[in-house]
Amino acid sequence: MLTSEDEIQIRNAVPEDAERIAEIEKQMWLITYPNEEFGISKEDIESKFDRALDRVEVLQDTLTYPDHRYLVAVANNKIVGYFHGISGLNENQVVETYVLPEFQGKNVGKKALDILFQWFGKEKSIFAEIAAYNTRSMNFFKSLGFVDAPGARRKETWNILPSGKEIPLMFMRKVMGSVQE
Ligand SMILES: CC(C)(COP(=O)(O)OP(=O)(O)OC[C@H]1O[C@@H](n2cnc3c(N)ncnc32)[C@H](O)[C@@H]1OP(=O)(O)O)[C@@H](O)C(=O)NCCC(=O)NCCS
Repeated sequence: MLTSEDEIQIRNAVPEDAERIAEIEKQMWLITYPNEEFGISKEDIESKFDRALDRVEVLQDTLTYPDHRYLVAVANNKIVGYFHGISGLNENQVVETYVLPEFQGKNVGKKALDILFQWFGKEKSIFAEIAAYNTRSMNFFKSLGFVDAPGARRKETWNILPSGKEIPLMFMRKVMGSVQE
């Protein structure tokens, strides 16, 4: 069934959503990150999730941290996407943005990030880490005023797979108080 844009609602996530968020996380990783050119295999990603047995419990906790904000997109009473932001001391960060394929391109991502941007406020810039081959996501962030921010801010671990392979990353930043805002 096709769902129109205004039938998709965005709300704050609650701990009871953790199981469904974890399900979407795995599903979207398997869709988004396998890449032949960079040697990122589906099996490696499967095994990352097989090892993360306590993922739901971790999410249930993280969802309640005051400096984290999780939003979910809901269509026909089912969660079809989620978004995660962290309010940082020096900079804010958009950590995860995932919308199931059949609900993409309906402005859900844009509406959810607008809510995160309001929560972040206008004082600090906003950072995002993106797989270097995820041009679709880069275009999405560009459309929201992010620009390339070359150079790693810190060594990350989320992109290291059980085999030791690393998903290559690129970095983007939205500078507040500029024309890009
Ligand atoms: C990236 C993602 C979160 C965007 O959410 P979405 O709901 O599909 O995006 P929206 O419909 O809100 O699009 C907002 C804007 O982004 C841009 N955009 C979205 N998808 C795009 C695409 N495939 N190519 C180019 N630009 C795109 C458009 O400019 C759009 O603005 P418009 O409405 O004026 O055309 C979603 O497509 C997704 O989950 N992708 C797969 C997983 C992923 O890569 N996540 C990001 C990990 S960092």
